[in-house]
Amino acid sequence: MTFRQRAAIIGTGSYLPERVLSNADFEKFLDTSDEWITTRTGIKERRIAADDESTVDLAAHAARAAIENAGIQPSDLDLIICASFTPEMPLPSTACLVQQRLGAAGCGAFDLAAACSGFVYGLSIAAQFIQTGVYRTVLVIGAETMSRFTDYQDRGSSILFGDGAGAVVLQATDQADRGIRYTKMAADGDGWELLFIPAGGSKRPASRETVEKREHYIQLRGREIYKFAVQKMQFLIQDALENCGLTADQIAMIVPHQVNQRIIDSACEHVGFPSDKVYVNIDRTGNTSAASIPIALDEAMRNGKIRRGDTILMVAFGAGLTWASALITI
Ligand code: ACO
Repeated sequence: MTFRQRAAIIGTGSYLPERVLSNADFEKFLDTSDEWITTRTGIKERRIAADDESTVDLAAHAARAAIENAGIQPSDLDLIICASFTPEMPLPSTACLVQQRLGAAGCGAFDLAAACSGFVYGLSIAAQFIQTGVYRTVLVIGAETMSRFTDYQDRGSSILFGDGAGAVVLQATDQADRGIRYTKMAADGDGWELLFIPAGGSKRPASRETVEKREHYIQLRGREIYKFAVQKMQFLIQDALENCGLTADQIAMIVPHQVNQRIIDSACEHVGFPSDKVYVNIDRTGNTSAASIPIALDEAMRNGKIRRGDTILMVAFGAGLTWASALITI
């Protein structure tokens, strides 16, 4: 199939809540230390939503910033995709609630469930609609309020997560040197038990028992996720380069899912990708799941680390298990 148009990123935006939860704060209520968290994960602090903030608030802030940065109006949007596993509520979708906040009634809106890979899955889906000429302008959001699903009695997981949201506006362009050039979406449901929330769905609806057993919180098998993430990050880098006929020196920046500094370093070392061309902000954000890549991208665009004309690669991996990539010329 020959596509008429490419999907270009014309605007980015992000939002981090004001409240900071530092490693020192964890030392006050958990048997942990700044030294352990920093050396094992690279995280120094993360942001936590205020009591009266929830996923829609975070998503709407990021979306407005992206729309303003793109220089468009909410009414220009043809579709809103919101990637999140920490939605505002089970029904309706967070995307519909964001659409209401934006005043963009009429366009399509849906949520996307692919955990930490969700934003990159969203880019891939948005690109298909734009490349086939069905839609012209699509808003893709990654938004998570991880703190509401984090067990702060579990030192093995709670130190990892932070809240935040990021968004991009994609628009059809005729410029052949710009836009999404390659995407990949993949999954392996065999690994679902490595990272999951046991209760709150149809299998184990909320009950006194599920609450008492703390089953509404994220449960993870950290060591296995660690190996999976290193392996898939290596694979995604090599796969995208091979399929696009590019070498590492033609990539200006990798924007990876901010999962763990050691995972990112290890994968890049294995494939021989220079670490100074990998954008990392996990020290300040923690792991914000689907929000991590669009937050990092927006930061890198605003501080000039990524510029118009740069070819960048986004790589993500997470629960499902899922993994995904997007190679884009900005
Ligand atoms: N502070 C101090 N000690 C701790 C802490 C803590 N916060 N957490 C665990 N420990 C202890 C453990 O109890 C264990 O002690 P033991 O040896 O006496 O039993 C020891 O540290 C080692 O525990 P491990 O779990 O093996 O530690 P590891 O080096 O694997 O690091 C971590 C744990 C950071 C979670 C790592 O496995 C990791 O980053 N995994 C992947 C990230 C992840 O799971 N992200 C979840 C989202 S998935 C995604 O975004 C793709």
